[in-house]
Amino acid sequence: MNDKARLLKKLRATTVGIDLEYRLATGRMSRRIYLDSTASTLQLGLVRDVISKYMPFYSNTHTSAHFGAKLSGVEFDWAHNTVLSFVHADPETHTAFFVGSGTTGGINRIARTLREKRPQRRVVITSIMEHHSNDLPHRRHFDQVVHVPTQVNGRNLGCIDLARIEQALQEHGDQVNYIAVTGVSNVTGIKNPVYDIAELAHRYHTLILVDAAQMAAHVPIKMSGHENPARDLDMLALSGHKMYAPSSPGVVITRKDLFSGIDPVEVGGGMVDDVHINRYLTTEKFPDREEAGTPNIVGAIALAAVMHALQTLGMDFIDQEESRIIRHAIDMLENMDDIVVYGNTDANADPGKSKRIGALSFNIKGMDHALTAAVLNDYFNISVRNACFCAQPYVREMITDELGEIADHLTNEELEALADLHRGMVRASFGIYNDSADVQALADALQNICDDREFYVRQYEKKPDGDYRHKTFNFDCAPLFSAASEVERWLAS
Ligand SMILES: Cc1ncc(COP(=O)(O)O)c(C=O)c1O
Repeated sequence: MNDKARLLKKLRATTVGIDLEYRLATGRMSRRIYLDSTASTLQLGLVRDVISKYMPFYSNTHTSAHFGAKLSGVEFDWAHNTVLSFVHADPETHTAFFVGSGTTGGINRIARTLREKRPQRRVVITSIMEHHSNDLPHRRHFDQVVHVPTQVNGRNLGCIDLARIEQALQEHGDQVNYIAVTGVSNVTGIKNPVYDIAELAHRYHTLILVDAAQMAAHVPIKMSGHENPARDLDMLALSGHKMYAPSSPGVVITRKDLFSGIDPVEVGGGMVDDVHINRYLTTEKFPDREEAGTPNIVGAIALAAVMHALQTLGMDFIDQEESRIIRHAIDMLENMDDIVVYGNTDANADPGKSKRIGALSFNIKGMDHALTAAVLNDYFNISVRNACFCAQPYVREMITDELGEIADHLTNEELEALADLHRGMVRASFGIYNDSADVQALADALQNICDDREFYVRQYEKKPDGDYRHKTFNFDCAPLFSAASEVERWLAS
């Protein structure tokens, strides 16, 4: 086993909760298989250990007089520098700052700032495959948002269509403030050609913002230093909780010049040089001017610790490992007669390579996605997510396409019932702690559900909110964990 394989094994084995067991509807205890990393990843043991060593020194980074504050300041600076290095951003031209709530917080900040910075440019180009967090902030702050479609192969949607981006750029010219695209879809795991899109944006004298929520933990990111500088990225947002560091903040990495020369959209302590009763002077210093208030210091250090570890492991190596796993998963599920896998599974991929990473979405034909997810959890201890994954336009487009193919053979009522049943999907998503045994377990479970469909359907009743309740099995959280009970136990000890 080489050094990288050994390190990956260690990271997997020490992931917090990797051996967690639950009692299932069958009464059997089994190890949980976590396939919901696109929503939030599990915590690396490394993060727990590093943070518990840091905590005795914890202090506010806005203080500088005492030892703990000095140490916290040094570590918080290290966190910023580690983020810049992780995404290969040039510290001369780019800055990284932490924001409250994940990628959502970051993209909202970018949208508000760019609207103020370039008020004459009132159009944003985005795509149909975006998470709502990379769509609604632009709708809120700009006059027009253009949703570019994806490539289509038969009935399968692929990556964002570059020709349609160019068409939108030609149509809207110097009205375009920026192009905002996801690096990787949170529904299908399809990778987008973000550096080609950057080149296109720059050819038309506009900017690119990459939503890296599903990219950062899975593929290398290179914001600066391309042989052709037109391929460099202007702005990027990511979420720490999707990078093995739960409770860490969101991050924005951006060209400094795009955020300078205007008042930051958030003001308060820590971002001013001088305050009088009738005026104040905002600091020119990055990242301070974008970090008003006391930051999430612990979360920032936790995230930087992960980035440091992933860099040591090598993002190319992680990309290769995870591509192999997702390819294996897609191949297995596609070969099952009763399963439909969404998104383009071949046309974009070089032979032998996957251009998808992290996530795949599917349905068992004729079975409600919420029921499939419930059965996977209750009978097989496989944690997945279902419904529309905050990407409703994209999911709706794929579902409608799927129905379109069989619509000819159905009455209107049947078609409506089917459309209703399929208004969502099941998503299996993977992190560095997953391996091919997890893929096999998912495929086996799905085959079992398909084979015994009638049995599983009989065990559940549908709730008004669309979820399914098992008729006899009830999951009780309290014996496993209750914060109040833990507090009481601690107080009594
Ligand atoms: C592609 C994408 N963008 C943005 C977000 C929003 O991230 P957060 O909830 O951390 O703000 C998500 C979350 O799933 C996502 O998958």
